[in-house]
Amino acid sequence: MYEEAPRPKPGPGEVLVAVKAASMTPHELTWPATWTHTSDGTGPERTPIIPSHEFSGVVAESGAGVESPVEGDAVYGLIPFVRDGAAAEYVVLPAAVLAPKPATVDHDHAAALPLAASSAWQALVDHADLQAGQHVLVQGGAGGVGIFVVQLAAGLGARVSATAAAGDLGFVKGLGAEQVIDYAHDRFEDHVRDVDVVVDLVGGAAQSRSWSVLRPGGVLVTLVTPPDQQEAARYGVRGAYFIVEPNQNALRSIAEFVDDGRLRPVLDRVLPLSETRLGYEALETAKRHGKIVIHVAD
Ligand SMILES: NC(=O)c1ccc[n+]([C@@H]2O[C@H](COP(=O)([O-])OP(=O)(O)OC[C@H]3O[C@@H](n4cnc5c(N)ncnc54)[C@H](OP(=O)(O)O)[C@@H]3O)[C@@H](O)[C@H]2O)c1
Repeated sequence: MYEEAPRPKPGPGEVLVAVKAASMTPHELTWPATWTHTSDGTGPERTPIIPSHEFSGVVAESGAGVESPVEGDAVYGLIPFVRDGAAAEYVVLPAAVLAPKPATVDHDHAAALPLAASSAWQALVDHADLQAGQHVLVQGGAGGVGIFVVQLAAGLGARVSATAAAGDLGFVKGLGAEQVIDYAHDRFEDHVRDVDVVVDLVGGAAQSRSWSVLRPGGVLVTLVTPPDQQEAARYGVRGAYFIVEPNQNALRSIAEFVDDGRLRPVLDRVLPLSETRLGYEALETAKRHGKIVIHVAD
């Protein structure tokens, strides 16, 4: 089921994209930014809203001052959450956050990349400054973001260890991890030490226990909760937390990794636009491998 909405007009610096596929993020419907004009929820409401802030599509119209991309270009991107999303035939967004879609995958697969792969890129490249040959531990390697952290770390030349549920060990190895540790039945501390970079996608005890496996001078990057800086200092390591931001350069690099075969999007399922609601329900209830994608148009 869906409703009619007016076709939006691109303003200066914006483009109108004909959406081919969109993708959804766990918990996005609980965020203030989804329902108001500000990330902290203090701005006025902007209901009714259109969800699903990652997409792949084709430029249909450019606003004033936009030289690139041009009409007909295939693009993909992450839409700022304070704007309408892409579970619709058209979306308007700033040209500055778009990048050319990876050439070797279709729109459904491209739509699965922007948020989770950008999170992985920003963790490993921007915050950890990962170097080839370093050892990375990924806490939560089978999750929506972990899938990309494992692949990108391996693709950047690192040795990758990861934690995952017993049923996911083979899946995460297939993404490029050398060693995958069953988090429920095994202690990662017994299998890894002197790690250069921990990427924490779990939080809680998984985060607080991770300090001890880092080498002095190593770094723990978490996307879950800001780490305890006193603990970081006690171990002589760095602790960093960040929130992913739309970034054109990261998307360009991700597209290169996809096109040269170092990164592959993983799709849990593809639903038609009319079943978007089912997708959001499955996000909350079902065990997944990869993204739930909405196929909007051929
Ligand atoms: N800061 C940001 O910008 C940003 C961006 C994206 C995501 N996030 C956050 O990052 C976290 C991960 O996101 P996601 O989309 O990847 O979540 P997800 O798809 O739910 O994945 C989490 C994974 O961690 C596994 N896991 C649970 N407990 C574990 C443990 N003790 N040790 C190791 N693995 C464990 C889960 O396995 P099971 O299937 O067995 O539960 C699941 O595979 C979430 O908290 C999310 O809100 C933040």
